[in-house]
Amino acid sequence: MAGNQTFTMIKPTAVRKNFTGAIIKMINEAGFEIRALKLVRLSRDQAASFYAVHEGKPFYDSLIEFMSLGPIVAMILEKENAVEAFRNFIGATNPENAAEGTIRKLYGTDLQQNAVHGSDSDENAVIESDFFFSKMERF
Ligand code: CMP
Repeated sequence: MAGNQTFTMIKPTAVRKNFTGAIIKMINEAGFEIRALKLVRLSRDQAASFYAVHEGKPFYDSLIEFMSLGPIVAMILEKENAVEAFRNFIGATNPENAAEGTIRKLYGTDLQQNAVHGSDSDENAVIESDFFFSKMERF
């Protein structure tokens, strides 16, 4: 059965451009409830650990560099079938291919600076949420 929580990050470029408020508004209006939220800057080691599943891929080093450039906004979101619903909602990984009106189309720059991350499975949603949030930071 699909879980009801997913994990997302607003990536450094989108935070720096002050898109955080607009993105959170869209997320809420789409029916996702925020269960945890923080503004935090990842060290290179933390970014490498978070994206360890991509280690060895050609874009890995550059992704680590980018994700540790400035603060990100981390959130746990709740909605029925959250992982799939959120991935459909934010649009394709590459903003160029994302549907009109999606977060990645509106606020993404390129494949790497694609505005937001969304968990790709229930299992990874739990792992990624645990990476950022303790029990007392969740509601
Ligand atoms: P995200 O959803 O955060 O998950 C992994 C990230 O790696 C992805 O978004 C993109 O930002 C990035 N990514 C995936 N594929 C590529 C690629 N081919 N080239 C550069 N970056 C990529």
